[in-house]
Amino acid sequence: MKRLKGFWCGLIMIILLLAAGPPLGAQSEKMILDSSKGQLGKKRPPVNFPHQLHMEKGLDCKDCHHLYENGKNVLDESKLIEGNQEIRCSTCHHAKSRLNLEKAYHRQCMGCHKKPLKDQTRVPPRYCGGCHVRN
Ligand code: HEC
Ligand code: HEC
Ligand code: HEC
Ligand code: HEC
Repeated sequence: MKRLKGFWCGLIMIILLLAAGPPLGAQSEKMILDSSKGQLGKKRPPVNFPHQLHMEKGLDCKDCHHLYENGKNVLDESKLIEGNQEIRCSTCHHAKSRLNLEKAYHRQCMGCHKKPLKDQTRVPPRYCGGCHVRN
């Protein structure tokens, strides 16, 4: 009887864990951003983007991720899971959109890096070579 109880408890735990999905912030620490796989020709080395570090700086997911409706960012944060194509910048920012992928990245990354932020220990990269690092 006791063993059976343990079995059910364990099973419920597993179901709960599966239902909860990956915890927020569980994505890889660094990502390589390389839009050359899309329509843009490759002129610069790909960018090593420290995703995790940006979250440690107290930024909100919605400071970078968005889904606009009538000018409002209505993105549901539970959609921010690895492998979800809907959240990829390139899904909406492509050759035919007003802001192509290169402009979208540059405006977002540099737009913020040029603003002084509190808790900033170092100045984030603003110049080409600071993001497009040759190795
Ligand atoms: C400083 C900007 C920034 C912040 C803040 C940010 N992200 Fe991201 N995130 C990005 C960029 C850029 C990408 C790459 C998108 C692409 O490849 O199209 C990305 C990609 C992702 C991916 C996709 C990973 C994959 O390869 O499928 C997930 C999941 C994600 N972010 C979750 C989050 C969550 C959750 C938060 C908040 C806790 C967050 N992000 C905060 C910029 C940011
Ligand atoms: C679901 C579609 C969609 C996704 C995914 C998306 N964007 Fe956007 N983005 C838009 C729309 C729509 C606008 C506003 C209209 C416009 O300017 O073209 C916009 C505007 C912007 C702007 C202008 C400033 C602002 O925030 O309003 C920047 C910069 C930007 N996006 C960068 C990015 C980056 C970087 C990513 C990936 C992390 C991303 N976008 C993902 C649709 C999207
Ligand atoms: C909303 C603000 C914001 C946005 C958007 C943003 N960053 Fe940053 N970034 C920061 C801050 C803050 C730091 C850390 C400065 C410090 O060390 O205190 C930083 C640091 C960095 C660093 C330096 C990491 C190191 O180890 O020194 C790189 C590289 C970087 N960002 C790349 C990017 C790229 C690429 C994008 C666009 C995809 C981007 N960032 C978008 C705020 C932002
Ligand atoms: C804050 C980070 C950051 C800075 C600073 C930056 N870029 Fe980028 N750039 C990116 C990201 C992210 C992408 C999209 C990913 C990719 O393809 O490398 C990109 C894409 C590009 C692309 C399109 C892809 C390619 O390689 O052909 C070009 C061209 C480019 N950048 C040139 C420049 C130049 C020139 C400068 C300096 C004036 C510069 N960038 C500064 C982050 C940055």
